[in-house]
Amino acid sequence: MHRPRSVREADVAGRRVLVRADLNVPLEDGEVADDTRIRASLPTLRLLLDREAAHVAVCSHLGRPKGPDPTFAMAPVAARLRELVDDDRLAVLENARFDPGETTNDPESAKRLAEGMHLFVNDAFGSAHRAHASTEGVAHILPAYAGLLLEQELEMLGRFLGDVERPFVLVAGGAKVDDKLGVLVKLGQRADSVLVGGKMAEQLRDENPLPYEAELPTDVIAAATFDEDAENRVAPYDELPDGWLGLDIGPQTRERFEGLIRAASTVFWNGPMGVFEWPRFAEGTKAVAQALADVDGFTVVGGGDSVRAVQELGLADRISWVSTGGGASLELLEGKELPGVAAIPPS
Ligand code: 3PG
Repeated sequence: MHRPRSVREADVAGRRVLVRADLNVPLEDGEVADDTRIRASLPTLRLLLDREAAHVAVCSHLGRPKGPDPTFAMAPVAARLRELVDDDRLAVLENARFDPGETTNDPESAKRLAEGMHLFVNDAFGSAHRAHASTEGVAHILPAYAGLLLEQELEMLGRFLGDVERPFVLVAGGAKVDDKLGVLVKLGQRADSVLVGGKMAEQLRDENPLPYEAELPTDVIAAATFDEDAENRVAPYDELPDGWLGLDIGPQTRERFEGLIRAASTVFWNGPMGVFEWPRFAEGTKAVAQALADVDGFTVVGGGDSVRAVQELGLADRISWVSTGGGASLELLEGKELPGVAAIPPS
């Protein structure tokens, strides 16, 4: 795997530094609803300020605007960052995606970002799978370095690309089997067990595109309608009452999955086991999160919903690494090159 040179090797004193961070955080009523990604960007920003950088301009995208759009303005993110780091040398640039040249990796957009800057530090692991002007293009204009978060993500997730301690268990859930197919094939083949829950399990039961047999649910919590308060009952997985929906793994599956996870030395988990934001259908996801936290080995959680689950359950501190990357972590584990990383010279 390409090891990009580190911001720790850069001479930043008196320099103007452009930092690409992934501050793409959820907003609610115009305020930051979860500041995990903002806090994860602090070590690099603090290092630059401590090492006397003259100016630190932080650039990020927020959401998927197609051009300037006040709903996606960076102001709430900038305000939260300012609460965490109070330094006049720090500035947050406006949403990189307000410039249509950002996502097309237009060299003119990259040039504009580089203007007046001496160095570029890419700390945006969550966006490293995008070849955009602020993640890739600008790294060809300014001397580029990897930020501390980017480095740590590569180090932690990169471990899965080599030999891991066994038993190694891969846990996958959520809805989009297509997005995760690459990881299920590549990483799953090297795992001792692959546990699949969520909507994805249904897709695998109906037609298995994997070169191995995954562990699928044997029972589910079935609901009469897709509703938080729907009438629900435990049902065998392949005998759901007509028209009913499986919204969580059932108690028998829960116990089997828990046992396999607890016996593991290495676990990677992406995607919830059911509709965990509704308490009646959260038990499967909770059980997986708890079992992972109890593992006395190397455990990693990646992907928005499963990360939210371990955080809401207060278990994040008991997981070896909670990744800030969704798509980026999956592409890395698939063995793909991340353009934002490849553009940084090696150390
Ligand atoms: C993410 O949230 O996964 C990253 O910030 C990338 O966002 P994108 O999928 O809109 O490029």
